[in-house]
Amino acid sequence: MPLKYHRLLLPLLLFAHQLLAEIPQCFHFTWLGAYSNHSNIHSENCESRVGDFNEIPCAEPLVVTTDDTVPDVKALWQNYTEDRENFLCQMSPGRSCVKYSYIFKGGIQNITYMCANVNSTNGCYRQTHPTGMVVEACVCTSRVGLIPCNGCSKSQSALMGWALCVLGLYQWLYKYRIV
Ligand SMILES: *[C@@H]1O[C@H](CO)[C@@H](O)[C@H](O)[C@H]1NC(C)=O
Ligand SMILES: *[C@@H]1O[C@H](CO)[C@@H](O)[C@H](O)[C@H]1NC(C)=O
Ligand SMILES: *[C@@H]1O[C@H](CO)[C@@H](O)[C@H](O)[C@H]1NC(C)=O
Ligand SMILES: *[C@@H]1O[C@H](CO)[C@@H](O)[C@H](O)[C@H]1NC(C)=O
Repeated sequence: MPLKYHRLLLPLLLFAHQLLAEIPQCFHFTWLGAYSNHSNIHSENCESRVGDFNEIPCAEPLVVTTDDTVPDVKALWQNYTEDRENFLCQMSPGRSCVKYSYIFKGGIQNITYMCANVNSTNGCYRQTHPTGMVVEACVCTSRVGLIPCNGCSKSQSALMGWALCVLGLYQWLYKYRIV
């Protein structure tokens, strides 16, 4: 084969290889919401918070944020100095990405991001308990190399979602020095 074909083919092959080697990811952690003593977080775990065999979702690591604001998953995904693998799980076949939010009187109490086998199509489902607590479960399917889908809120417009995808793809290409 003439050399010029090789030059064209090699990046393509590398690209295809990276694409196949990667499995889509989901975010995987619990944000505890408003938390009184941040230095206590190290003594917390899912078992102490929700117990075993409990139907309340919980995924370690447990996370608190400065000012107790909702986690900035985009910053987490983009921060390569952070060991972000700790906050991700692999969306292996048959699984979906899920985001559970506990909402009380419009305020988000806590959020659990995880991979799970769920028997429902993509979308958000809300359940209101007699106490007024709303539990929202959003199910989605991530794409290889892009920011995990369970970080995004459903209120995002289609255009915004598309823009984020392009941005994610670009960052992924950049990470592997393809562009
Ligand atoms: C916060 O937690 C740390 C570690 O458990 C403890 O030493 C400290 O006294 C606590 N501070 C307050 C204000 O409760
Ligand atoms: C999230 O908030 C709900 C309602 O306050 C609570 O029942 C649940 O235990 C919390 N989840 C975690 C993981 O702390
Ligand atoms: C990235 O993560 C590291 C380690 O947690 C943190 O110190 C740093 O401030 C983060 N950078 C940004 C831009 O969020
Ligand atoms: C899962 O989905 C299948 C097909 O839609 C349905 O037949 C089955 O009853 C569902 N199982 C549960 C546990 O919801």
